[in-house]
Amino acid sequence: MSTYLITGVSRGIGFAFLRHISADPNNTVIGLVRDKTTTEKKVREELDRPNIHIIQADLTDLDSLKKSVDQVSPLVNGSIDYLIANAGYMSLWSAYHPLSSLGNDPERLEEDILECFRTNVVGNVHLFNLYMPLILKGHVKKVIAITSGFADDDLTTTYAIDVAGPYSISKAAMNTAVAKFSAEYAERGVLFMGIAPGAVEVGQDKDLTEEQIKIAMALGEKFARYAPHFRGRTTPEESVKDMMSVINAASLESGHGGCFISQHGNKKWL
Ligand SMILES: NC(=O)c1ccc[n+]([C@@H]2O[C@H](COP(=O)([O-])OP(=O)(O)OC[C@H]3O[C@@H](n4cnc5c(N)ncnc54)[C@H](OP(=O)(O)O)[C@@H]3O)[C@@H](O)[C@H]2O)c1
Repeated sequence: MSTYLITGVSRGIGFAFLRHISADPNNTVIGLVRDKTTTEKKVREELDRPNIHIIQADLTDLDSLKKSVDQVSPLVNGSIDYLIANAGYMSLWSAYHPLSSLGNDPERLEEDILECFRTNVVGNVHLFNLYMPLILKGHVKKVIAITSGFADDDLTTTYAIDVAGPYSISKAAMNTAVAKFSAEYAERGVLFMGIAPGAVEVGQDKDLTEEQIKIAMALGEKFARYAPHFRGRTTPEESVKDMMSVINAASLESGHGGCFISQHGNKKWL
């Protein structure tokens, strides 16, 4: 029996993690979400499993994160085996434009970068610190941050991936936070690692403008040059299945402490 804490289970990849992991009735799965009522309703309608518990917390609200620890702890007898930091923020505004054109509205660009940092970096750093006492009491001690191939500077420069700057910068910073936590906690047996999920369909393109559609198509052509086998986004379920294989196989002993790898277990992002 294992205990899991997963952030951002309201939809997308997080909900697929919730579905996949709670399918084993021996697992206890805690989902952290911003909107508890709506997620509880969705979970009741689509999964209805007694081993799922939904708790409210917002990564940008330190008090809510602190309160969540008090609510989670009794549900898991004070210990967590796996923490999956899945919740993440990227604005549609900055997703399909290079930093230069975003810079035409410098105040909005600054706010966009800061919002990515508040959620993807600061929020996760608080999350890891606050839940560390429970992780240290767990049997497995794995902390997984869901990151992005967009944080790979070699990919960015080789294939001229100039879009989604604020998000990519924040995911790179989060990867460094993961490495720092690994440096601190590996000797106490905690495996920290970052895994990118690949390109996954979560409805992110439903409100694109004509201009964004053109840029998205150009991005697709770059993806095809990078990975000629690439045929489009996978489902959240496929991505989660692949990531779980990587998570289960990874260990400190095999050198995964602080790593930044993909759903394939390597540096191939697609
Ligand atoms: N989809 C892809 O192709 C792809 C590629 C690379 C990396 N990723 C990463 O995979 C992870 C999951 O993304 P997704 O594709 O499933 O995206 P998504 O459908 O947009 O889901 C994002 C999740 O994060 C939650 N969230 C956002 N801000 C939050 C905050 N301040 N506090 C708590 N929760 C917050 C959202 O909750 P609400 O419902 O309350 O908004 C939602 O549950 C993210 O870290 C993302 O960066 C995705």
